[in-house]
Amino acid sequence: MALSHRGAAAQSGVQVTPDGKQNLISKDVGDQRWAIGYDRASGVVTGNVFFPGGGAAAFVWCERAAEQPGGDDVALSCFGADACSVAPCTPEQWTFLATVTLPAAFFEPPPAASGAVPTSSAELFAWLQDGRYRSFAAETAVHPSAGPHGGAVRTFVNGALERSLGAGSAAHPAGSAAVKELYAADRSTLTGWAVEVKLQDDSAGGNGWYWYEVFSTTDGSRPIEGVGNAACTGCHAQGDDYVRIPFPLQ
Ligand code: HEC
Repeated sequence: MALSHRGAAAQSGVQVTPDGKQNLISKDVGDQRWAIGYDRASGVVTGNVFFPGGGAAAFVWCERAAEQPGGDDVALSCFGADACSVAPCTPEQWTFLATVTLPAAFFEPPPAASGAVPTSSAELFAWLQDGRYRSFAAETAVHPSAGPHGGAVRTFVNGALERSLGAGSAAHPAGSAAVKELYAADRSTLTGWAVEVKLQDDSAGGNGWYWYEVFSTTDGSRPIEGVGNAACTGCHAQGDDYVRIPFPLQ
């Protein structure tokens, strides 16, 4: 039985048992399907691994490895066995497979999406790279920009801005935020982001908004940004309290 953990975060299905003691995880790991339980107190993992093309499932048991990698990763020593054909089922039926390192998030349900958007450029860039805005309400597709925002764009709005736009408010409340994905002409290569976050209820001629735009997805060192940045406010002043996308989102 081979273990790999490529693409471990790709598919998520996690449930917590009603006694709160175990996380049940059903996820694709490489081309395998893992259906496992993670004991929160001991860190022991038990369950089944199913292989592409069917066949008998393998039984897997992992304990926390003696050496931990640190950071957000967890190292597990995993042992495998085939089905036990007749009792007694002895420990000798298990063989060591591998030490598997997985992100701790593999075992956890997705964190609650927070509508709060960072307003310092380093923190914001990391937040964008993590795609944390993707749970926000979004335009249905990448489309050509009506403004100077590169070739093609797709805008996401957080709950506060969505509610305010929906209510037709003349001024959006503090915490309202929009994230615009910038795409290359192929409409599938992400090339950067533009962001606006309202810092206070009063728009103050654009100074009530934090503005940010970066033309890279890997290098956040050269954004155009700042509170009330005049490179952005002049044109955005034509919008609905500085927001220019049509609403309902298209
Ligand atoms: C010359 C006009 C113009 C300038 C300058 C401009 N924008 Fe925009 N922006 C637009 C238009 C038009 C839209 C509507 C969506 C689209 O078609 O791109 C938009 C949309 C956005 C959105 C999505 C939410 C919304 O308001 O519709 C964000 C976020 C954004 N711009 C950020 C910025 C930032 C940050 C800057 C400055 C670095 C900036 N923009 C400068 C015209 C402009």
